[in-house]
Amino acid sequence: MCGIVGYIGHREAYPIILKGLQRLEYRGYDSAGVALYHDGKINVSKTKGKVDDLRKKVESSGNMEGHLGLGHTRWATHGVPNDTNSHPHYSNSGDLVIIHNGIIENYESIKKALIARGYVFHTDTDTEVLVNLIEEVRDKEEVKLGKAVQIALNQVVGAYAIAVFDKNKPDEIVVAKLGSPLAIGIGENEYFVASDASPFIEYTNNAVYLEDEEMAIIRLGKEIKLRKIKDDAIAYPNILELQLNLEEIEKGGYEHFMLKEIYEQPRAILDTYRGRLLADKGLVKMAGIDQNLEKFLNANRIIIVACGTSWHAGLVAEYIFEDLARIPVEVEYASEFRYRNPVITENDVLIAISQSGETADTLAAIKLAKEKGAFVFGVCNVVGSSIARETHAGAYTHAGPEIGVASTKAFTTQITVLTLLALKLASEKGIFSASQFHEILAELENIPGKVEEALKSNNLVAHIADIYKDSTNCLYLGRGYNFPVALEGALKLKEISYIHAEGYPAAEMKHGPIALIDEQMPVVVIATKKGHYEKVVSNIQEINS
Ligand code: M6R
Repeated sequence: MCGIVGYIGHREAYPIILKGLQRLEYRGYDSAGVALYHDGKINVSKTKGKVDDLRKKVESSGNMEGHLGLGHTRWATHGVPNDTNSHPHYSNSGDLVIIHNGIIENYESIKKALIARGYVFHTDTDTEVLVNLIEEVRDKEEVKLGKAVQIALNQVVGAYAIAVFDKNKPDEIVVAKLGSPLAIGIGENEYFVASDASPFIEYTNNAVYLEDEEMAIIRLGKEIKLRKIKDDAIAYPNILELQLNLEEIEKGGYEHFMLKEIYEQPRAILDTYRGRLLADKGLVKMAGIDQNLEKFLNANRIIIVACGTSWHAGLVAEYIFEDLARIPVEVEYASEFRYRNPVITENDVLIAISQSGETADTLAAIKLAKEKGAFVFGVCNVVGSSIARETHAGAYTHAGPEIGVASTKAFTTQITVLTLLALKLASEKGIFSASQFHEILAELENIPGKVEEALKSNNLVAHIADIYKDSTNCLYLGRGYNFPVALEGALKLKEISYIHAEGYPAAEMKHGPIALIDEQMPVVVIATKKGHYEKVVSNIQEINS
């Protein structure tokens, strides 16, 4: 995943691009770069490291001027993270500059052919291949940039959100999308391009989200021209008025976005319940379900697909659905599911869980299930995201933007939505008496307050972290609902502390992994009162001994 930002208009592009990259740094943070057009020249600065390293580099070079520019924050796919492989990339003539989020799968064969025709490559990236292919088409076919981009994209296989400009036409940016997100912000005689709306939200609320296989020619003083990449058909921009609030996407006084997002959980869970959990009336209301109840009630089984943290939320949901709604559930890694010819029938319901709504494997799994006739329901956080658009129906988590790359509030709000969904189905199936149901809902209403209470243990957490910060391994154990929570805890430790960690069902320890336990191995056990407490305590005793 990478973040892209572009600007064309009457303002200085650099400050807009820099701030935009800082907001998009959650999408990639191994290198960053910016290209600015000024006085007939393109000044490119790029560096391995964070956006702040880029800022220092640009500011010491003094090349900060220009009203047209592109910026990129990278999470490497082709070529190691270094200054050279960082984006933007330019074509052999130096005329064209590109930023790209995605992967060009057939870049090697295109590169070979371009080399045979005299092109020279300076980086290991697939993106440099694409920009040179565009240039070759432009020169050979004698077409404008937009047409050249279109012809070139019809030759590539893969995924992309790209923005390109030509220094001979500094009033224009060409963008295109397939599989990676791309939003265009429309201001007064100015345009913004970005992976999401956060880089331009303080300048304009009007945005167009490109659909897959669409491209746009953005020209100053003109309306955006949208086309289908494949057949050149004209598409009409659907201009949305965004409700995103800038305050929501800034750090709000916390040192890190992740910390801010951890503390936002009580509010995020409450927002996710709002209007859906009506404890006083003993009701759960969810429009996406109400309109599709029969699909769920008649389903043979529910298949949940997701990746990473969202997959862990799916595992928790498996326990919840089976326990509360008595519906069989299978939970699949989207990346495995899509490639293994799974058995899916018209009587299956597929639930796709994704914070971003843009995870390529999850999207592909959705498309596969739809082809086979299954009903597909999305649980996403980002409104209008690809997954939200691709599913038949869905329910948003109302967590607000999750900028931290390590998911926190996304996980708890996903579980919130999935719990509501299970309860809704349980009530439709008449599994609980009215008073039991009422009791569960009332208890759920207390969750935000309990999370608030748990967050007060911050000092204790800091103290424990200090003791174990130099450990090289760690185990997380839990049973029942707490097993997926253990998996999620281990993922967070790996991702954030670079400490090797594994999550296990607590009772599995005795089947081999206990051999790993010694004085150096911290073991975190999730032992809540209702999570098979006595059994977990026995597991703790085994580990102690
Ligand atoms: O946006 P998604 O929920 O689809 O993302 C899937 C995973 O990449 C994501 O959950 C990832 O595992 C977490 N951010 C890790 O903390």
